[in-house]
Amino acid sequence: MKRIAVLTSGGDAPGMNCAIRSVVRCGSHLGVEVVGVARGYQGLINRDFRVMGSRDVSNIIAQGGTVLKTARSAAFEKKPGREKAHTHLRQAGIEGFIVIGGNGSFQGADIFHQEYRFPVIGIPGTIDNDVSGTQRTLGFDTALNTAMDAIDKIRDTSSSMDRIFLIEVMGRHSGAIAVHSALAGGAEDIVMPDEMRDIASICAKIEQGRKIGKRSWIIIVAEGSGWTQGLAAELIRSEYDVRVTVIGHIQRGGSPSAFDRFLGAVMGKAAVDALLQGKTHHAIGWRNDATWLYPLSQAVERKEEDYADFLELIQILT
Ligand code: F6P
Repeated sequence: MKRIAVLTSGGDAPGMNCAIRSVVRCGSHLGVEVVGVARGYQGLINRDFRVMGSRDVSNIIAQGGTVLKTARSAAFEKKPGREKAHTHLRQAGIEGFIVIGGNGSFQGADIFHQEYRFPVIGIPGTIDNDVSGTQRTLGFDTALNTAMDAIDKIRDTSSSMDRIFLIEVMGRHSGAIAVHSALAGGAEDIVMPDEMRDIASICAKIEQGRKIGKRSWIIIVAEGSGWTQGLAAELIRSEYDVRVTVIGHIQRGGSPSAFDRFLGAVMGKAAVDALLQGKTHHAIGWRNDATWLYPLSQAVERKEEDYADFLELIQILT
């Protein structure tokens, strides 16, 4: 291969720039030209291409977001959009591409490969850590640290004013940030995505805590529970002094952590190597402290994690 492309797709995640930098520099080290595609699959349809050299990725290692920009392309979900994308790739002499994104982005890549046999390698990049086949996705570690910092800060007011705080963390379908940040931030309770919790048990736990002298109380609520405001209203009805903080997109931004920078570097290299070795529909995972290559069809799936032990530990450590 002499020419490959790289794009970022779906929600941005810290560390995407580190992976782009690694793809561009590893490509150039191996004598392969790397073309950056703007705004994900939409850039393939719009032929928004630019050749990137080593100097084009200078000083992006510490930047959040993605210098290639990203989008969720509705046009690529339809056959005419993919047809156009394929034509543009061929016309530009691109022989394979690397997509950095989550499950949705990999679904697009998988269909595209099935239709055109076009070589594609996926790098899991999403703060949700919910891509099947990898223990870590790019951006999760940074987002988790952001959530933990927020919990630490809110704890100051919670302790000073004896208040209950509900802190909503991101994850429409994933409880990864919720579970890990609850443990890392020492939260007293947690509500997971799609979880039905009984308000009486939440209140009973607060009362038990009060009996042993606990006045500050932090409940992490996963975005995907959809219960943040409802739970706050119930607690207020029970005459607790409650405040709600939705951390939101702050978790998506910011300079990547050391781990996400490292992961971007090693996954970027592994993706370039995979394309050059003739792999055609694979993803790069992180498993037992090393990258590994696995079928893209697996990365399309959402990872189902069993958090039972961690959830029990949150209750024990309260
Ligand atoms: O997939 C990452 C994520 O941040 C989810 O945690 C969140 O539910 C969703 O994206 C928000 O998407 P958007 O930025 O399109 O509102």
